[in-house]
Amino acid sequence: MVPDTDTQSLPMRGRPTPLTLVPIDPDDDAPLHRQLYDGFRDAILTGRLSPGGKIPSSRLLARELRLSRNTVALAFAQLHAEGYIEGQLRSGTYVSRTVPDALLRAQRRPADRAAASSRQAGLSARGRALAGTGLHSEGPAPDPPRPFRPGLPALDAFPRRLWTRLANRRWRGSDLPLAYNDPAGFRPLREAIAGHVAAARGAHCTAEQVIVVSGSQQALDLAARVLLDPGDAVWLEEPGYLGARAALVGAAARIVPVPLDREGLSVTEGERDAPSARMVCVTPSHQYPTGVTMSAGRRLSLLQWAARADAWILEDDYDSDFRYASRPLACLQGMDAGGRVVYIGTFSKTLFPALRLGYLIVPLHVAGAFRAARAVCDRHSPTIDQAVLADFIGEGHFGRHVRRMRALYEERQVALVDAGRALEGLIDIRPAEAGLHLVGWLPPGVSDRPAAAALKGEGVEALAFSPHYIRSTERDALLLGYAAFDPRAIRRGVEKMATVLRRLSHRPQASV
Ligand SMILES: Cc1ncc(COP(=O)(O)O)c(C=O)c1O
Repeated sequence: MVPDTDTQSLPMRGRPTPLTLVPIDPDDDAPLHRQLYDGFRDAILTGRLSPGGKIPSSRLLARELRLSRNTVALAFAQLHAEGYIEGQLRSGTYVSRTVPDALLRAQRRPADRAAASSRQAGLSARGRALAGTGLHSEGPAPDPPRPFRPGLPALDAFPRRLWTRLANRRWRGSDLPLAYNDPAGFRPLREAIAGHVAAARGAHCTAEQVIVVSGSQQALDLAARVLLDPGDAVWLEEPGYLGARAALVGAAARIVPVPLDREGLSVTEGERDAPSARMVCVTPSHQYPTGVTMSAGRRLSLLQWAARADAWILEDDYDSDFRYASRPLACLQGMDAGGRVVYIGTFSKTLFPALRLGYLIVPLHVAGAFRAARAVCDRHSPTIDQAVLADFIGEGHFGRHVRRMRALYEERQVALVDAGRALEGLIDIRPAEAGLHLVGWLPPGVSDRPAAAALKGEGVEALAFSPHYIRSTERDALLLGYAAFDPRAIRRGVEKMATVLRRLSHRPQASV
């Protein structure tokens, strides 16, 4: 549940009461929590509630609106999940400062109001929910990427000439299928993927279980559409991946944030909050964003719970190829005897994200449903790219490229950790045994969102950690991607970061 606030005032213009701000009609068919959610969302989007403003406690709202605390908590949880409000441990609940600006501006301009509200009125509940996620609402980040934009591999080290040669060979050949293809993917690529995940990740699968998709994001969306009904409870790691959260919001799932400990997602806490959830979304090999690796014992507990609850496990294995210190643990899919794991892999980190190719490995009995859902969505991914990728993997280039990148990323991580030592007291950058980013913990009193904004002003890109929480942030931090930047760029980025963080640490900040 979101923390209570101790204030009695709403951050709105003209100070209406909660009753006028969020009118609740007990005779309306819509559930009360939905009315409350709609009311708050509307007040935020039309500017009647201001960004950063404090929201009254759930106790006060429940009393004034004559609703149960549970109803208020349900509405707040949904608003939290979609990023309209945010909680700070002990200090209350606030209107989010990060509600997409474009959406706010569009809603606020009086001339646009009627058109905007009629546009909203025309949207389905799903359309409204998707618009509300704000995922990538700001469009693409500036090119070229600057240190330390997370989520990118070394784009400069991608073997472009080799890829071009393979693509030319395919175009020149007579067997390139230019007609419609199998929605589940180009057969040779499905075979190559099945071979790769068996060898590298200990998965048990055949090519029939592989569904080629347009990156993990489509995999998450398809899995949510095919496996969930509106209102189904889904455990999501807290903090967790915004892309997974958005896919679940789009499927009208009831997101249950489940905290982590040193061994990964706490099955005990998940069972306490939603014992019969329909699904759990996890990143076991390298938890996003914390970097925790799920222990073998925890993997077994999760599989046992899924068997008891008859639940799905959605395993997002997004950057598992990059593990530096030790051999990776086998994926959950390979440990599953009950056909409950849906595995997601992507080539966004091993090759490059603009390729938009990834894959699902699904239990055989649901493969047909996934294939059909993919066909409904966009038929299939471009066959030419799939064919080139099949050759790239089949001829051994993929394995070589990943090995080369692993060594390069290890060096780049060392460069960041070493340079980061000079920032003692300003940010604590800890090494990690896997992945493409590090977490830099900020000292108490320095909030991550203003820090990220200030860094951006100086040409340094870092992602604030706190938006990855649905409930409340335990500690503020910055996510620092290192894989895409050479040691010189990393050192220069660290110097700029030092200047900005020094400035911030001498200035008291409003918490957001
Ligand atoms: C947890 C997680 N999963 C998946 C992805 C990759 O997404 P996609 O394959 O859609 O590019 C990312 C990208 O940063 C991620 O952080």
